[in-house]
Amino acid sequence: MLYRQLGNTGVRVSLASYGTGGARQLGQNSGMSSEEQDRLIRGALDMGINLIDSSAGYGNAEEILGRALIGIPRDSYVIATKWPQENFAPDGFEIAQEPGDLTEAVDGALQRLKTDYIDVMQFHGLHVSYYAELVDRYAPVMSEITRSGKVRHWGFSEWARQDPWHDAVVHALKTDPELWEVVMLKHNMLSQSAAKEALPLAAETGTGVIVMAAVRTYISHEDRLRELFAGWKRDGVIPADSVPDDRPLDWLVHDGVDSVASAAYKYAASNPAVSTVLSGTSNLKHLESNISALEDPSLPEADMRRLVDLLGDTEAVVAE
Ligand SMILES: NC(=O)c1ccc[n+]([C@@H]2O[C@H](COP(=O)([O-])OP(=O)(O)OC[C@H]3O[C@@H](n4cnc5c(N)ncnc54)[C@H](OP(=O)(O)O)[C@@H]3O)[C@@H](O)[C@H]2O)c1
Repeated sequence: MLYRQLGNTGVRVSLASYGTGGARQLGQNSGMSSEEQDRLIRGALDMGINLIDSSAGYGNAEEILGRALIGIPRDSYVIATKWPQENFAPDGFEIAQEPGDLTEAVDGALQRLKTDYIDVMQFHGLHVSYYAELVDRYAPVMSEITRSGKVRHWGFSEWARQDPWHDAVVHALKTDPELWEVVMLKHNMLSQSAAKEALPLAAETGTGVIVMAAVRTYISHEDRLRELFAGWKRDGVIPADSVPDDRPLDWLVHDGVDSVASAAYKYAASNPAVSTVLSGTSNLKHLESNISALEDPSLPEADMRRLVDLLGDTEAVVAE
């Protein structure tokens, strides 16, 4: 396992990390037993993963982690979690949240996770339209909580579906770089827009970057990937003869790159601004393969160039 610095936090994180959200939510959506969930988490740690991402909104993921991590030395893993349960809805922000909620949310997460500190507390799905209001309201509370020792570092995740150009990250890091030590953003080979401004800015400000959705839905489903590329060809987004109609990304699979998913993990991690890449799998074999892909986080130069030529300037795939 390779390890990188989480920006300027002083925390060293594994390049592959584990996400308890997404479609799988730590096996909660596929009827995994508690023993299987514990095995997944402990298996991830045994394979060298030291960062686990969660949220108050991922079903019972925090409680499951609290249970699965019992007896494991607290300083051997890094917990990142989020509040509130859902992305902040732009029009619901004012009525939905009060500053005191954040203090309660941290206490609730600590209880569920059975720990006395959270390494990285993130606002969940922040949108630029209410960024200023959020900072006004919560920055003082954040400082208080930090002083209490309950949270070590603060960050936020973006609302990928609503923010294809990473406006929240770009605005936040330009406006208040000292406030945000960590950001979580979408960066994948079908959606390369973070490489333009958000990632260089994070590198400049020393902000840790956790990548979500390196694979997500299209790359993990052959039929959806085929349809996506067919649509792009139909709409003139990419030339009709640029990639095969069937298995459009299989040209990435060669010379030690054993699957399109492995290529996707390498793409995400190859940007040096990235601290860690989450894997939201519920399958230990997939996790093993994703970790192994990140042992050498680079794609052959010609493939990287072809990917950027092909998709570097297209509309980002927002939702999936
Ligand atoms: N706004 C936010 O705050 C936000 C939004 C989204 C995600 N996140 C965080 O980011 C984490 C990762 O996001 P995600 O789970 O949506 O996306 P992801 O990790 O990119 O993709 C997970 C999907 O890919 C499949 N997969 C993984 N490895 C595979 C492999 N080697 N071969 C084939 N399929 C593979 C998984 O299925 P299998 O189970 O079959 O492997 C699952 O369906 C989440 O768990 C969460 O912690 C945060």
